Amino acid sequence: MIHSKITEKIRETPSTCTLKFEWDAAVLPGQFIMIWIPGYGEIPMSISDTGNPKAITVKAYGPPSARLQELGVNDKLFFRGPYGVPFTEVKERKLIIGSGSGMACLMPLVDSKSTVMISAKKASELLYRGKINAENVIYITDDGSEGTRGFPDTVLRDFDTKEFHMVYVCGPEAMMYKVLGILSARQNRAEFSLERSMKCGIGICDSCSIDGIQLCRDGPVIGIERLKNSIEFGRSKLDHSGKRIRVEI
Ligand SMILES: Cc1cc2nc3c(=O)[nH]c(=O)nc-3n(C[C@H](O)[C@H](O)[C@H](O)COP(=O)(O)OP(=O)(O)OC[C@H]3O[C@@H](n4cnc5c(N)ncnc54)[C@H](O)[C@@H]3O)c2cc1C
Ligand code: FES
Repeated sequence: MIHSKITEKIRETPSTCTLKFEWDAAVLPGQFIMIWIPGYGEIPMSISDTGNPKAITVKAYGPPSARLQELGVNDKLFFRGPYGVPFTEVKERKLIIGSGSGMACLMPLVDSKSTVMISAKKASELLYRGKINAENVIYITDDGSEGTRGFPDTVLRDFDTKEFHMVYVCGPEAMMYKVLGILSARQNRAEFSLERSMKCGIGICDSCSIDGIQLCRDGPVIGIERLKNSIEFGRSKLDHSGKRIRVEI
């Protein structure tokens, strides 16, 4: 288990904050760590800044992530990693599509050749608003309180993706499933960061299984060619108890 101290805490949105910490390991965009929250267990978190200091960006969903958000400067972080297959980085123009806390794992990919589509339910929940240094930033909100009213897939339908060498996607599975359909039909090169229940993070417990692969080891980043043939993506997943449940699309 690695120990580090939180050096900075940034309130990003009412539900989300970024915690910065010193860690000199080499981490690639798309990789994650398993964070131990004493009294609550371990949860996977993407590295939202792969430089040094590093960062995680946490949305408060349930008690473990809410507890993580209560930590402040000088509090200790306990974690192991980095784990997982990173995104394939390209030098050419790229399109980045991030919804909600899904934008966290995409942030290390953003550069001056990126177009970023960033979506949230409402303006106040848009992650990294005003902080994204890209060629073009397109804000999308469900309620139209900022940018275009709608969802990434509705905006993508009228958006020309031919000029982009790679499309990177992360967010709720319903969004990614619809975006997968559009990009497959257009034969875009794309990678998606998926989420499943993760316990060991190192390919032992099988709780993160999707289509017989272990997402902690063979993902969380999956290429479009593999994903479009998936029989589980957008349909079913294992919950934290191991029971198969339907994915709401
Ligand atoms: C590869 C990967 C990267 C992620 N990166 C981020 C990120 O950058 N930012 C972010 O906000 N969220 C991220 N998540 C989601 C995060 O790990 C939690 O799933 C989410 O915070 C759920 O919060 P919770 O545990 O507080 O709530 P609940 O869903 O209420 O948790 C209930 C219980 O389930 C357990 N649990 C919850 N989620 C998981 C999980 N994924 N695996 C195993 N056990 C779990 C908890 O320990 C708890 O006991 C990522 C998930 C994955 C798989
Ligand atoms: S989390 Fe245990 S095998 Fe992936």
